[in-house]
Amino acid sequence: MCGIIGYTGKEAALPLILGGLERLEYRGYDSAGVALIENGSLVVEKRVGKIRELVKNLWGKPYRGRTGIGHTRWATHGEPSLENAHPHTDERGEFAVVHNGIVENYLELRRELEDRGVSFRSDTDTEVIAHLIAGAYEGDLLSAVLAVVNRLRGAFAFAVVTSKEPGRIVGVKQGSPLVVGVGEGENFLASDIPAILPYTRRVITLSDGEVVDVTPEGVNIYDFNGNPVTKEVVLVPWDIISAEKAGFKHFMLKEIYEQPKAIGDTIRGLVSAGEALPFDLREFRRILLIACGTSYHAGLVGKFWIEKFTGVPTEVLYASEFRYADTPVNEDDLVVGISQSGETIDTKFAVNFAREKGARTLAVVNVVGSSIDRESDYTLYTHAGPEIGVAATKTFTAQLAALYYLSISGHPQSETLLSELMKVPALVEEALERAEEIERVSQDYLRCRNFLYLGRYLSYPIALEGALKLKEISYIHAEGYPAGEMKHGPIALIDESMPVVVVAPQDRVYEKTLSNVEEVRTRKGRVIGVGFEGDDRLAKMCREFLEIPPAPEDLTPFLTVVPLQLLAYYIASKLGLDVDQPRNLAKTVTVE
Ligand code: F6R
Repeated sequence: MCGIIGYTGKEAALPLILGGLERLEYRGYDSAGVALIENGSLVVEKRVGKIRELVKNLWGKPYRGRTGIGHTRWATHGEPSLENAHPHTDERGEFAVVHNGIVENYLELRRELEDRGVSFRSDTDTEVIAHLIAGAYEGDLLSAVLAVVNRLRGAFAFAVVTSKEPGRIVGVKQGSPLVVGVGEGENFLASDIPAILPYTRRVITLSDGEVVDVTPEGVNIYDFNGNPVTKEVVLVPWDIISAEKAGFKHFMLKEIYEQPKAIGDTIRGLVSAGEALPFDLREFRRILLIACGTSYHAGLVGKFWIEKFTGVPTEVLYASEFRYADTPVNEDDLVVGISQSGETIDTKFAVNFAREKGARTLAVVNVVGSSIDRESDYTLYTHAGPEIGVAATKTFTAQLAALYYLSISGHPQSETLLSELMKVPALVEEALERAEEIERVSQDYLRCRNFLYLGRYLSYPIALEGALKLKEISYIHAEGYPAGEMKHGPIALIDESMPVVVVAPQDRVYEKTLSNVEEVRTRKGRVIGVGFEGDDRLAKMCREFLEIPPAPEDLTPFLTVVPLQLLAYYIASKLGLDVDQPRNLAKTVTVE
């Protein structure tokens, strides 16, 4: 993962790079560093930990250089340490590289360089790039990069500067994201768009196999053979205000509250003529929904809807598993890649693999111009706006909106179903009004070390999502399970110390779920029920009862997930944890 940024122009580069790194910190935060060209020399500063450690270390240092690169790291090769922090340099300290992704053949390259007498200072794969470029340099940075790039295998993006050519940054994209920000007398490079939005909204999204040569005066793009490539400059519609906290303590809480808007904007965006589906789902023999993490849970909900409204058999697969399995895929299949970032490498590879097998591919992504967006045959956008909190919230419910829309397209009652969907934002608004009660409840669960989440049918994926939210931000172990499966194993875990969150809206499986609640109570489990307002029967069976407004069965996942997001948020926040940047995680997972 990792975040990279570069600036060259008329301003002092350091504050712009640090600002950009703060906005990229969600991609990783094990260490951070910058390289600046100061009066013709290369200066490198780095620190272990978050960007603020680097900023503290830079206070009072009078750097004025107008060209530089920066990096925030999520460790893959080499533990988080000062030696392994980026930027990495060649032996003479004349070339500095920041890198995101993995160079798979780095050990082979490292051995070759060591045989030539090069000494390494880190355990990273990145350092080989700096040494290779220094070795290939004959007076032109672009030529040196082009000479090296075909030797690197894997999925990566990197940026390089040299004291020999102040004012120039060369960037490479091969599998990991990299965008160019186009300014007036200044230009930027970054892993993604929000990093540079305060400075420019004019962006070029690079494609795999491209090298970009950036100076204050211009941006030139080439393929790996050095042939010029012409790219379009796109005006980004987001503005930075939507990426600030707007008075909320954390981005995650702000984003939970943004759900009515995210769902509403997604429905409106999809309904607009420009995003009409070019096919009928019923044309396909089978539909495969492929995703990771929270997006996979959205897929699990989507499967129920697609099968109900279209009758087409639908499977949901983890991208990382699908890619290396022998699942037969062919031209009769529709493969839907669901991804907030549009950059998750497993999902991207899985969708590409399916396309090569002849399947038609559809992306459901939040980031316009992301790899999965560009590489799929069609795209449905979730219009959730930038999501900064590492834990996905508003993009999950926006994905649900997109999948519901997909499932009802072409249905004889699609108009009626769509008008039901349009009521969801107001219902989610109502569900959010119970936040204070959830905050109060959360106080009693701060010391628990395990949670079980149960649900059936449409509430089963929500139980999985509730458990994922809790574990990723509070570090409390939580397991999601189909309620009916509990008696086949997890019931053994239940005693008076085990909170059991049961998602039980009044749907077709309500009575069955209530029987499972009884089974938990009989074993003295502490039941936290999520159900419809006014459901006294459920309320009486639970130690805590978290209400949601009543809704038609199909729409309940939009509502039942809200109290679970809030419960996880308040527990983690009360524990004093870093809710927006939980340990070991990163927002965009561009490694396998
Ligand atoms: C959990 C979370 C992750 C992502 C997963 C896929 O809160 O955010 O599990 O859902 O990494 O990411 P995308 O949707 O960008 O492909």
